[in-house]
Amino acid sequence: MTSPADVQPATQSDNPASRSSARPALLLTRRLPDAVEARASCDYRALLNPEDRAFTGAEIAARATEIGADAVLCCAGDRLDAAAIAALPRSVRVLATFSVGTDHIDLEAARARGLTVTNTPDVLTDATADIALLLLLGAARRASEGERMIRANAWTGWTPTQLMGTHVGGKRLGIVGMGRIGQAVAARARAFGLTIHYSNRRRLPAELELGATYHADPEEMLAACDVLSLHFPATAETRHWLNAGRIARLPPGAILINTARGSVVDDGAVIDALKSGRLAAAGLDVFENEPNLHPGYRDLPNTFLLPHLGSATVETRNAMGFKALDNVDAVMAGRPAPDRVV
Ligand code: DGY
Repeated sequence: MTSPADVQPATQSDNPASRSSARPALLLTRRLPDAVEARASCDYRALLNPEDRAFTGAEIAARATEIGADAVLCCAGDRLDAAAIAALPRSVRVLATFSVGTDHIDLEAARARGLTVTNTPDVLTDATADIALLLLLGAARRASEGERMIRANAWTGWTPTQLMGTHVGGKRLGIVGMGRIGQAVAARARAFGLTIHYSNRRRLPAELELGATYHADPEEMLAACDVLSLHFPATAETRHWLNAGRIARLPPGAILINTARGSVVDDGAVIDALKSGRLAAAGLDVFENEPNLHPGYRDLPNTFLLPHLGSATVETRNAMGFKALDNVDAVMAGRPAPDRVV
């Protein structure tokens, strides 16, 4: 696995493109970490977004046209649908997304247009798995309620029954999607004494499974999930995968963790289950229609909510940016992009 520390910024001399007077034009759709912008500006005629405005797909296409962009470095949250892709200037050869997820890009439209699309796998695995554990512990141990009590100056002192949560040791964690992040979550959860169940398209070899129980059918696994953690991509097929029917298969009082994408859960069903106690708690880092999450989540005491922080460490965000630039560099140099999705 590549860790953020393994990914170094290329210097100007590493990249022949930077020595050419006709540097390719690169559009950065959002503000990126300083070191990433510095490398982008050194190697490319880069159009930055210092105010970090969230542009629409049409605006991104217009900005790409303005500079005759050869490449676009986009981010999760940029809606690059078929219309936006069609509006990009013909000069654009690569869409390098600063994310592992690609659900914000119409990949079929990109493919049809002959664009290369790349993402940033591996470097955010550990940071995202760390956040999943933070959510698991925060939700199970009622951290949000405790924190709010202190901030509201409402804590009147220790009591034997105050904010009793769920002990995670000895519980069963069910992971749907046992890719890089799912495996990293399993490794951390084992250290907290959880036993691991997982469902994945393919069973892992024993050296990666490490004693976890495989369920070919995720539906069948649900009954064994005291904690359920979701780690599969958002697609048309996985939209609202966790619905009322599947929640009903979980043991009463299960805990839900989502660091994947908000659209894979049916918010209404999850909120109803949190209200009734069918779900004891939920730790959520991602939401459908971010940042306009379902307001029901905010009012519930048993939610531990983060604003899509999975990869938000300095080291990881730098590594993601350098990886995205490595992909742009490759395409500009006529080499295969290391992280090509399309
Ligand atoms: C990703 O990479 O897909 C994250 O959700 C954004 O960090």
